[in-house]
Amino acid sequence: MTFEIRKVCCIGAGYVGGPTMAVFANKCSNIQFKVVDINRARINAWNSKDLSQLPIFEPGLEKLIFKCREKNLFFTTDIESSISEADMIFLSVNTPTKTKGIGAGKASDLKWVEASARQIAEFSSSHTIVVEKSTLPVRTAETIKKILESSQNNQTKSLTNKSYSVLSNPEFLAEGNAIKDLENPDRVLIGGEDNKAISALEGIYLNWISPEKIIKTNLWSSELSKLTANAFLAQRISSINSISAICEETGADIYQVGKAVGLDSRIGNKFLMPSPGFGGSCFQKDILNLIYLCEFYKLDAVAKYWQGVIDINKWQKTRISQLIINKLFGNVSGKKIAILGFAFKSNTNDIRNSPAIDICEDLLEEGSSLAIYDPKVTDAQINNALENKIQRFKSSDEKNLLNIYSSIDDVFKDCDAVIVLTEWQEFSFIDWVKCAKVMRKPSWVFDTRSCVNKQEVLKAGFNFWRIGSETHHIL
Ligand code: NAD
Ligand code: UGA
Repeated sequence: MTFEIRKVCCIGAGYVGGPTMAVFANKCSNIQFKVVDINRARINAWNSKDLSQLPIFEPGLEKLIFKCREKNLFFTTDIESSISEADMIFLSVNTPTKTKGIGAGKASDLKWVEASARQIAEFSSSHTIVVEKSTLPVRTAETIKKILESSQNNQTKSLTNKSYSVLSNPEFLAEGNAIKDLENPDRVLIGGEDNKAISALEGIYLNWISPEKIIKTNLWSSELSKLTANAFLAQRISSINSISAICEETGADIYQVGKAVGLDSRIGNKFLMPSPGFGGSCFQKDILNLIYLCEFYKLDAVAKYWQGVIDINKWQKTRISQLIINKLFGNVSGKKIAILGFAFKSNTNDIRNSPAIDICEDLLEEGSSLAIYDPKVTDAQINNALENKIQRFKSSDEKNLLNIYSSIDDVFKDCDAVIVLTEWQEFSFIDWVKCAKVMRKPSWVFDTRSCVNKQEVLKAGFNFWRIGSETHHIL
């Protein structure tokens, strides 16, 4: 006997909750999915008629929303009834790094997870399978269980038909590729002890995923595997970024080195792209969380090891800012610099921890004004991210320090340099001769993502720096 899952609720309509439930709804037409959030504006955006207004940009998402929304996929702020009718509830709420109190700067802030568990305890009406989708510190399932169980103890006898199973089912999707990752994941991980609940969750995935890809572990291994996977991925980026700096000093080329190294099947060729550092909401947060765990268990050498991955990431961003300033004669004050790309990677509108923020802040601090273009990030997002620096460094002559453009053609006018910070595909088709005509000389192109056409840049007469490669000085 397994549980029959007819109604699913997902708490949290963010980058994980929205796309994940859209794919689930598309693959399981016999199940109703309700995605709930306390953020009414976000829910309204998910329900907008104009699909270009969805709160998240993900290739392939609009098509799924168009197909499933209001059929078996619903976005609502009605948390109470969505929980009450659900057989299974996914927790997809945010788990950012704590900013104050015990563990500040390292531990994950679990207040949203706890609030969700309390909502479930209050509104659920029968047996409910609670699935951790959020990335959580090891043993969080224990906390969730305690909150749920304590609510059972508080019930009057007539309401004691409530009961719970808690599973861990971490999400491995990468933004920008979320739909493909959800439709065809490398693996699905389910951690738990209750076999009936595990089978019920497995039953959902079996609608489109082959059984060999579904791995089952205990709860704690599942929670720790998620942190470990992100730590390993981030470690590869810090490794290749550290080597990019050596390449620039020695005349070696990072792409040649990366290719030679990645062809070793034990190493593999993925996640070896040098960059201005990893961004996004998770790598740094999850490593910090791992470090906190190590320190808690007095594994200081292990904590120090993982701290190195974060330190290199920070160093790479500072290194690039300093290098740009040095190449511009050690002075960017009064100069205008074009920033191409603000998202933390291409194919997403997410700017959380984007390296663009740090690099732009460094340039503003040195007195530069910025002309920013990103095809998917809104003006409001960029303004919010840089607001503090802009206020601090407001120029006395009231010149606009921050200029945000909706067309790439308008960005280059009067700029001394162009910095490519996100690898949007359109940046490989830029007409550099046209750009050169409207820029100040000597002009520079700094490509931190290896995505512009080097030959065209050089032909147009630019000085050119590409991460991990030889610099070309024209003037
Ligand atoms: P997000 O901030 O985009 O979305 C979380 C949503 O939860 C927000 O809209 C928030 O309003 C809502 N929320 C918080 N508390 C709530 C409550 N009590 N009731 C209802 N709604 C509530 O976050 P995200 O990027 O989707 O990440 C969610 C989790 O998934 C995190 O733990 C993250 O580490 C993990 N994760 C993220 C990714 C990713 O690519 N973003 C990938 C894998 C795992
Ligand atoms: C990452 C993981 O890839 C997902 O498996 C995981 O589910 C997710 O974190 C999470 O837990 O949130 P994401 O951050 O969305 O996904 O995107 P990635 O493709 O991993 O890129 C992260 C950052 O690393 C980006 O800034 C990207 O530009 C950078 N990166 C990536 C590199 O600098 N070099 C590479 O070779 C790859």
